[in-house]
Amino acid sequence: MEYSVAKRTESFQESVIRKMTRVCQQYGGINLAQGFPEKSAPEEVIQAALQAIQGGNNQYSITWGLPALREAVSQKVSRFNLNGRRPDPEKEVTITCGSSEAIVASLLALVNPGEQVIIFEPYYENYLPGLALCGAAPLFVPLRGPEWAIDMKALNKAFSRNPKALILNTPANPSGKVFLREELEIIARLCLKHGTYVITDEIYEHIIYDGLKHVSIASLPGMWERTATINGCSKTYSVTGWRVGYVIAPYGLMSAIRKVHDYMVVAAPTPFQIAAITAMALPDSYYWDMGEHYREQRDFLLQIFQELSMPVLRPSGAYYMMIRIDGLGYDNDEALAMALVEKAGLAVVPGSSFYHRPEDGRDKVRICFAKSWETLHQVKERMEKFLRS
Ligand SMILES: Cc1ncc(COP(=O)(O)O)c(C=O)c1O
Repeated sequence: MEYSVAKRTESFQESVIRKMTRVCQQYGGINLAQGFPEKSAPEEVIQAALQAIQGGNNQYSITWGLPALREAVSQKVSRFNLNGRRPDPEKEVTITCGSSEAIVASLLALVNPGEQVIIFEPYYENYLPGLALCGAAPLFVPLRGPEWAIDMKALNKAFSRNPKALILNTPANPSGKVFLREELEIIARLCLKHGTYVITDEIYEHIIYDGLKHVSIASLPGMWERTATINGCSKTYSVTGWRVGYVIAPYGLMSAIRKVHDYMVVAAPTPFQIAAITAMALPDSYYWDMGEHYREQRDFLLQIFQELSMPVLRPSGAYYMMIRIDGLGYDNDEALAMALVEKAGLAVVPGSSFYHRPEDGRDKVRICFAKSWETLHQVKERMEKFLRS
């Protein structure tokens, strides 16, 4: 039987990260490919979810999200992101099924078929399928390692085509780049000049190192009106399976985003929205401690890779690390990734999956280091053994 499926699905492949996860399971390996944290969720947040379920909160919630959670999100966002601006919980906050849904819903709501959208690369792998679903065309702007500096010539060229939107991700996956205020100001100026919207994915906002500060582009002058800010509970509270995210935007954009959200998913899971209210109320010290935890893990791995003479692109945020593989004796990133999982039981992501021209990422692989200390010590042993073999 020959099936005739929609053309929009043809441009994207199976997720490389999920493929590596499956291969990892086959070999009973350690999964450094997928970005879920091994750190447990805060106890009070888990208890809040259990009580919510036992208390009978198991039906649909209001499509835009529980009012108390929208209020809590509004307060948290004004505390950390918007220089005190309080988005209106009634009109400017929507709770989504993870930030993944928020990204696709925002793209579908803002971008028409044939319109162009700027993406920095290396990019998080969900962005391109999101554009494919809209029938939109990506305009790639390279971030150049080791500093992941924006290629300004490419940025100006991309803006000269009057793109409809720009996808920003800070701190970024997979590079660990944290966009500095000066860089965001340049991007903001260009967006204002060309009438471009920004969809900014800030899911790693609290995982940031070396004294750097997270800046939300929506807080820059003139940018609130043209920005959809996306975030969620997955990484910050170690609950990737709960699927609670949110999007903040002015009502002119939000009214369209809500329509897509409503018909795509109806609502985010009710009991986990209730637990998220408890999460949002955690004190500043929670975020500080979490940042410190990941900084220690980053530094532990930086030290290990230095001892193993494996060059690493030092991340300034998020919990991923890109490792240079030239000099390890493998033809390319995929060959090394397969050898690592087969011989050492370590699943990593081939770097080529983060670039539209695979050759640009052939010299690196990505690992996720949001693991238990025990796992990280095993990584050290397994990597040593692999390099000796
Ligand atoms: C940059 C980025 N955005 C979004 C997501 C997805 O987050 P969520 O679980 O909220 O859908 C991830 C997950 O790895 C990510 O790395």
